[in-house]
Amino acid sequence: MTQGGTIVEVRMEHGIERGAELAAAPGADDATGAQARLRVFRGEPGERTRFEEFDVPVGEGMVVLDALHWIQANGAPDLAVRWNCKAAKCGSCGAEVNGRPSLTCKTRLSDFDLAKPITVEPMRTFPLIRDLVTDVSWNYAVNRSLEPFTPPADVPQSDWRWQQEDIERVQEFRKCIECFLCQDVCHVLRNHETERPFMGPRFLVRTAGLEMHPIDQADRRRYLKDVGGVGYCNITKCCTEVCPEHIKITDNAIIPLKERVADEFYDPIQWVWRKVRGRPDAPLRKELPVLPAGPMATAEGSPPTGVSEPTPLPPRQRAATRPKPATTRPQRPRRGVRPADTSAPQG
Ligand code: SF4
Ligand code: SF4
Ligand code: FES
Repeated sequence: MTQGGTIVEVRMEHGIERGAELAAAPGADDATGAQARLRVFRGEPGERTRFEEFDVPVGEGMVVLDALHWIQANGAPDLAVRWNCKAAKCGSCGAEVNGRPSLTCKTRLSDFDLAKPITVEPMRTFPLIRDLVTDVSWNYAVNRSLEPFTPPADVPQSDWRWQQEDIERVQEFRKCIECFLCQDVCHVLRNHETERPFMGPRFLVRTAGLEMHPIDQADRRRYLKDVGGVGYCNITKCCTEVCPEHIKITDNAIIPLKERVADEFYDPIQWVWRKVRGRPDAPLRKELPVLPAGPMATAEGSPPTGVSEPTPLPPRQRAATRPKPATTRPQRPRRGVRPADTSAPQG
């Protein structure tokens, strides 16, 4: 399949003339001869959204983001994809790959059964901008509503002292790359079934990092209960499962915060003691903004799922545009296409 660093006669269903010489796929020097079929969500609010299918040559170690770049270079230059570092550190390439919130730069094509299409969609929880790009600015508004780090006003920074174990406890929360995959998967945010907004797991992680900081003086428990909606979380642990930084969001952040809120507001002895002491309530800071409807709900004129199925090519056209067999490696037969009978006499 590779000739002098280029890949020839690899067919896509969109935008590529058969036989055209195509730009090399990322990792094309290590081309495996395999192909992946990607079903990519396309469209923007106000138009009928759809899936488009592309056959992408697979190189050794290729990730989903590589395949999206190949599609941009070879068939759909207007495909909108957000990315930055390609190193699983900037958090900007989040999308849903086969329904699972994932960093596309960290998701290898070899993790999938290439006999089946790989579906790539935008994060459903956030409003769609275009194709795979969503508007995540709601998260920044939630972030601004949090009480920031509040050191003691009368102790100079040079006198701050804390134990190594205190550092280790909050260090885990500082690993967050703000990819918002946990926000995307959280059913409380995704389904918008609550009467009040819910801050979501990412900001429970940030709050835990502040509340457990040994120098911080602020009290965010009333905010968590009355504004952040910590009680809406029912510990399903879906957020923990998708976190690319392996932060134990539910066990190490959410459950301790729930316990702190329960101790403060629902323990009857604490309640009486608070009344006796007459301690003032902690400030609420700002109210949370309401999360707008996600991309699948904003596509006008779409069917209930928000996407329309691609029109399958008729069988004759599929067979006629099948890639030529590789000269050095056997080609995996395309689904629905019978492999050539090599035992028949040639001639
Ligand atoms: S554990 Fe809580 S925050 Fe995490 S996904 Fe489930 S409901 Fe959302
Ligand atoms: S907690 Fe994990 S999943 Fe959530 S935004 Fe941070 S890194 Fe991403
Ligand atoms: S491109 Fe930066 S995390 Fe994927």
